[in-house]
Amino acid sequence: MTKLLAKWFRKFHRWIAVPTALAIPAALVIKLIGDPELKSMWEKIDNLPSILMLIMALSGAYLFLLPYIVKGQRKKKTVPNHEVDNQLKRK
Ligand code: HEM
Repeated sequence: MTKLLAKWFRKFHRWIAVPTALAIPAALVIKLIGDPELKSMWEKIDNLPSILMLIMALSGAYLFLLPYIVKGQRKKKTVPNHEVDNQLKRK
């Protein structure tokens, strides 16, 4: 399940990176140019770069935590040595 989730989060993070990388410089350029018509058009979608950045930060945080999540799951799955010894003794 973690593997599938990781795959989709990575894909999601990768593809949302494209509009994010376009929207942030676009917002900056539009604000720097200062054309009133362009500015009023942009105002309608002014919070789009922030929303995209939030999505990137959340999916990025998950990707960052992923190795630690997997490590934790691996630790839980492995049987401690003394358990194996006990099982062998019982046989
Ligand atoms: C703001 C918070 C962000 C965090 C915490 C974050 C974190 C991460 C992490 C942990 C990875 C996986 C690295 C690895 O293990 O290989 C990653 C991959 C990546 N990030 Fe971010 N990221 C953020 C924002 C962004 C932004 C703004 C962009 C681009 C606009 C971006 C583009 C990418 C790309 C293209 C990858 C490679 C995805 C792949 O595996 O194909 N990230 N990021």
